[in-house]
Amino acid sequence: MSAQASFRNNVLRRLPVEETAGPHYGGRHRLSLIYQTRDLIVLGLGVMVGAGIFKIAGEQAATTAGPAVVVSFVIAGLACLLSALSYAELSSTMPVAGSAYSFAYVAFGEIWAWVIGWALLLELQLAAAVVGRAWSLYATRLIADVGTLSGVSAIHVPSAIEGVAGHETGFDLFSLLILAVLALVVAIGARLSLYALWFMVLAKVIAIGLVIAGGLLFFHPANLRPFVPPARPLPASGGDRTVLDLVTGGAPHAFGLFGVFAATSAIAFAYIGFDLIATAAEETRDAPRRVPAGMIVSLLIAIALYIGVAVAMVGMVPYGRLNPATPLTSAFTAVGKDGMALVIDVGAVVGLATVILVVMVAQTRVLFAMARDGLLPAPLAVISGRYKVPTRAALLVGGTAIALSQVDVWTFGKVSVLTLQQMIVIGTLFAFLFVSAGVPVLRRARPDLPRGFRVPGVPVTPVLAIAATGWLMLNLRLRTWEYFGIWMAFGLVVYLLYGRTNSRLRHLLDGRPVHDHGRHRR
Ligand code: ALA
Repeated sequence: MSAQASFRNNVLRRLPVEETAGPHYGGRHRLSLIYQTRDLIVLGLGVMVGAGIFKIAGEQAATTAGPAVVVSFVIAGLACLLSALSYAELSSTMPVAGSAYSFAYVAFGEIWAWVIGWALLLELQLAAAVVGRAWSLYATRLIADVGTLSGVSAIHVPSAIEGVAGHETGFDLFSLLILAVLALVVAIGARLSLYALWFMVLAKVIAIGLVIAGGLLFFHPANLRPFVPPARPLPASGGDRTVLDLVTGGAPHAFGLFGVFAATSAIAFAYIGFDLIATAAEETRDAPRRVPAGMIVSLLIAIALYIGVAVAMVGMVPYGRLNPATPLTSAFTAVGKDGMALVIDVGAVVGLATVILVVMVAQTRVLFAMARDGLLPAPLAVISGRYKVPTRAALLVGGTAIALSQVDVWTFGKVSVLTLQQMIVIGTLFAFLFVSAGVPVLRRARPDLPRGFRVPGVPVTPVLAIAATGWLMLNLRLRTWEYFGIWMAFGLVVYLLYGRTNSRLRHLLDGRPVHDHGRHRR
């Protein structure tokens, strides 16, 4: 261990950067190298372009920002781009599976790493469950639309399962099935996931291209007026108040200039995913160069696609005629192109499946990294000798996602998973804050480290990223913050009871033998 690490051995112990995937940390048991830059771009598009494009754009146009939702997409995109630059620099210095968790371990110390890792687990685990549930809604709609548009009455969801498929609450069979199938794909090999992903991302991008081209054919500038609709108060409801409302003493409201900014927080969900590319770094050849490129290029493509869809949609019909539940379909129906519903359904079914797939791959890698460091039980760091991936971690991810997707069954209807979407956003933004702060901290502490990518304008750029992320967080609901606080407090208890004493770094600093985490098994 280097001298830097050995001066103290408490919860703030910092992992020496050389050790992030070095010989003491599973360097002998590497994940296979399978990704090229183009694969990383596909991973990024696979996870970013999902519910955001099919639902959030229209929902926010109809309820919060009006046609100016296009501007909200630009602002949210720029805010994410600022954070992406920091992710790019840190992953070029530490190309490891743990992403923000490992960056925090090096820059801030073990307890902060745990906190970030715990927030990432929230983001990823809930994302798989929420998107799995949304997938079920689109899958049943696809079946119904095929039946209606083809005129074949035999095509419909079988009545035996009608009550348990495609509903927002209660037990849902389709989300259970999609999560189980995708978890198995992730568990039996990264290459299989990658082939499946390429195929599905291609189909999704074609569907989105058709939506943009089809929408622009009906573009009417008059639909963009008023571009920023006048502000309007919303009925007060305790749980819907945001932190910003609390700070400013204001009541929730929609539209107006403020609505344009308020929509950016919901829209941040649409860009979530570029950060997950960093979790693929340990499986990428020449990662210091390729990971930053893959991350930034895929985010730029996603920004272009989102803005394309938003412009096409608000240009087709006045924003007031968009149905927030099915905005894109309602826009095409309004211009007499009902058939486009099928393209949208197919795009959504394929698109949401790729989101789940990449989220599960990423979560498996974060669990693997945390277990390899001894902060979670060692079996999660075992790489299957047969499949060359952390198969046990993948099965745990699948099982938990299934349980969460049915959360209202076991909470007796008290919590519905679809209402937990903001929890995904808060977990992600929390990690963004630390990653942005980590860049100047590490530049000062270790100016000597090789950096395949350097954030321009440090420290101004990371400070702007932190300010933009902070703004997005202030626009989240009070209830989201409360739930997040409970989750993080629970995490701290888990750390104090398990990670603090089982930490591999702690044992190494004490000069004690460590168990062989991260090994291969048949
Ligand atoms: N960005 C992903 C989506 O929009 C999470 O579904």
